[in-house]
Amino acid sequence: MTNLFTPTQLGSIALRNRVVMAPMTRSRSQADGTPTDMMVDYYRQRAGAGLIIAEGTYPSENGKGYCRTPGIVNQKHIDAWAGITEAVHAEGGKIVLQIMHCGRCSHADNKSPQSETVAPSAINAEGEVFTEQGMKPFSEPRALRRDEIPEVIEEIRLATVNAFAANFDGVELHGTSGYLPAQFLSSGSNQRDDDYGGSLENRVRFVSEVLAAMCGVAGADKVGLRICPGFPFNDVKDPDPQETFEHLLVDIQALEMAYLHLMRASPLDIYAMARNFFKGPFIINGGFDRDSGDKAIAEKGATAVSFATSYIANPDLVQRLEQGLALNTVNQATLYVETAEGYSDYPFFDD
Ligand SMILES: Cc1cc2nc3c(=O)[nH]c(=O)nc-3n(C[C@H](O)[C@H](O)[C@H](O)COP(=O)(O)O)c2cc1C
Repeated sequence: MTNLFTPTQLGSIALRNRVVMAPMTRSRSQADGTPTDMMVDYYRQRAGAGLIIAEGTYPSENGKGYCRTPGIVNQKHIDAWAGITEAVHAEGGKIVLQIMHCGRCSHADNKSPQSETVAPSAINAEGEVFTEQGMKPFSEPRALRRDEIPEVIEEIRLATVNAFAANFDGVELHGTSGYLPAQFLSSGSNQRDDDYGGSLENRVRFVSEVLAAMCGVAGADKVGLRICPGFPFNDVKDPDPQETFEHLLVDIQALEMAYLHLMRASPLDIYAMARNFFKGPFIINGGFDRDSGDKAIAEKGATAVSFATSYIANPDLVQRLEQGLALNTVNQATLYVETAEGYSDYPFFDD
């Protein structure tokens, strides 16, 4: 029977098993967004996953939201990421990069002094963001001018070009958790009166155009999209997420993308949404273990299951799940610190 350990295919990306490492911001990059050597170790250790989705990475200085997150903007970033993809490939693993433009979910302290905080509309997100000086309220965003929107799409297209230059097997657009794509989709944050706001068609336009641009770089069979319809995290307000996301999925159907990545934090029946409105493979995420993961694949139509928290403390998660071995527990205090402690020093079972 097909289960977590059966090989599969997401577009043109061949997976040796269906255990996917979900994207996780871990704040181990340099201040200028360059990935570090400890990140090479961390990802190499987890290369046993059928696919690694590397952490949310900014496509432009304006798109950075958090301190010590990585970028994919310049040659220094590309060269450092290339060391990571090389290490994962040497272990027989696959790795895609999650592209995350934070839009209004950002703080000026976390990014370059020349950059700006931009969003569909000049509406503050309620909430706070982690900075080197502790939690601070989100910075006030400036509304993007109509002529700047194609420029932002171009930034994300160039980030995709850079990701392939760093030898990633694919790219994933971060379309959830209140970041820029979600800000365009949701009427609470998008109150534009031009062709990128207002009607459903207009709110969906930005994400559709971004995905088309990403797919144009190296083929749609290397591009995924992560969503979580109705997830209110980071002040997302959408009175009808069912309608919004069904419309989006229909709009992008013709692209024939590699995969859709869904978080179970959605209040909607996301399995039905994926099966009915996305014709390709889907990855499901959120609180899975071996049994529920196998069932999601065998009974609910998921192609693969992604694990976040379990991967923090268990570099050999595939082996542990397959052999029913105990899992290490996560140290919450070291999630976002600067050191290798609680990052690349979790033991393998064999240790
Ligand atoms: C430390 C941490 C960082 C995260 N960073 C990201 C991120 O960069 N991008 C993203 O899409 N989700 C991010 N998430 C969400 C996870 O990918 C995942 O959806 C969530 O943890 C639920 O999965 P789990 O139950 O397997 O942990 C993060 C989660 C954690 C715990």
